Amino acid sequence: MKPKEFLDSHKKERLDQLFEFLRFPSVSAKSEHKGDIVKCAEWLSGHLNKIGISSKIMPTGGHPVVYGEKLSSTDYITVLYYGHYDVQPPEPLNLWKSTPFEPIIEDGYILARGSTDDKGQLWTHVKAFEAYTATNSKLPINIKILFEGEEESGSENLERFVKEYKDMLKADIVVVSDSAQFSKTQPAVTFGLRGLSFVEVKVTGPDRDLHSGSFGGSIGNPINALAKIIAGLHDENGHITIDGFYDDVVEVSNFEKSEFKKLPHKDEEYLKKTGSKALHGEKGYSTLERIWSRPTLDVNGITGGYQGEGAKTIIPSWATCKITMRLVPNQNPNDICNKIGKFIMKICAPYVHCEVKKHGGAPAVIVPTDGPWLDAAGRAIEKGFGKAPVFMKEGGSIPVVGTFKHVLGADTLLLGWGQSDDNAHSPNERFHLDDFEHGTYAALELIEELSKVKA
Ligand code: BES
Ligand code: MN
Ligand code: MN
Repeated sequence: MKPKEFLDSHKKERLDQLFEFLRFPSVSAKSEHKGDIVKCAEWLSGHLNKIGISSKIMPTGGHPVVYGEKLSSTDYITVLYYGHYDVQPPEPLNLWKSTPFEPIIEDGYILARGSTDDKGQLWTHVKAFEAYTATNSKLPINIKILFEGEEESGSENLERFVKEYKDMLKADIVVVSDSAQFSKTQPAVTFGLRGLSFVEVKVTGPDRDLHSGSFGGSIGNPINALAKIIAGLHDENGHITIDGFYDDVVEVSNFEKSEFKKLPHKDEEYLKKTGSKALHGEKGYSTLERIWSRPTLDVNGITGGYQGEGAKTIIPSWATCKITMRLVPNQNPNDICNKIGKFIMKICAPYVHCEVKKHGGAPAVIVPTDGPWLDAAGRAIEKGFGKAPVFMKEGGSIPVVGTFKHVLGADTLLLGWGQSDDNAHSPNERFHLDDFEHGTYAALELIEELSKVKA
């Protein structure tokens, strides 16, 4: 049997196994799921071993890595496949049509947390490998696999891991399927991701909640103070006001401008997908430039005071928020953390105490848009999806991609099979069965196409 026939004759198994994978609540952000993460890693590693890829779980200091390899010949090129088996928290649960960790099929979609981000996408590659091993077909490339368990928490331990196991991970090229196509009818190769800096702000006022009648007007309110800080981070044109924030920013290039213009993007359709009232962003840039090539700042959550039923009239004792900034080349995540920290201390009202916890983050990445690897990927996508890919960028971040470049010296092919309306990180996350199938075929073709590249 040929590898492709194996895929066709094992359609149901491939899906059933993905469902099994999706049933692990491998939420990396929450310590209560630590055990589930380990069980998921063990299952994944066990599956790789079962299909003839020698695999083990390796500790990182955080959640474990699943490593696997099948090295056939020193004459072959070596491809490192990266993906993540951890997922985002499923909350808010009441907005799900189904149960997040009990996958179902609805309207042609696999519905489950992790279906598109990233279990369903990494599964396409695993099944492409199996199509070779199960049919005793000659695998024409050396395969290395790195599936991590804390991407959704910032991959905090992975850089150290990659440095420590530099030789083990050495590869000619990296393949990552953890992003989206341009649209349902237009596959894509992604040539850039934004980076990320993450901080937490805590504003403290009185040493306990105070009666807002007895004290309101004389003692400063930390929520009011935090709101003022947040409001001070942008100007009326949507520019970020932090001192030096744009110092290292590389402006949108002419290549990017012309590639973006070629894409069939429509602001009205884009807006509709989000269910928002109107577009909003930095003045002077198009929507695609804003999300792919310009740095941004967003508050992810804000907490403080009383939010329970009815009234509780207080001046709260404290207020907190979490802020992330999406970065572009050549902004440095730590430098940006320092800059926002300094700026917040500068604009914070003098009547409260303010603390900025810096978490660093990941740099933006740009990957080559020409050369033999990209040509090979383009051919594989065209065979798998029936249409040649366009170039696009993504606004999201995959922290380790920068590490692959500066530690391993390897470029990454960002070959996303999902869609931007797959509800990643949202309720009702989904992955279309067609994207799963086409992605699996493209993953299979990719093996053959990459094998022809002379490294
Ligand atoms: N798969 C995403 C990255 C992504 C997002 C690619 C959107 C393409 C479009 C990844 O799992 C992710 O969510 N990354 C986080 C990283 C963060 C926690 C450091 C992100 O971008 O927020
Ligand atoms: Mn992902
Ligand atoms: Mn994600």
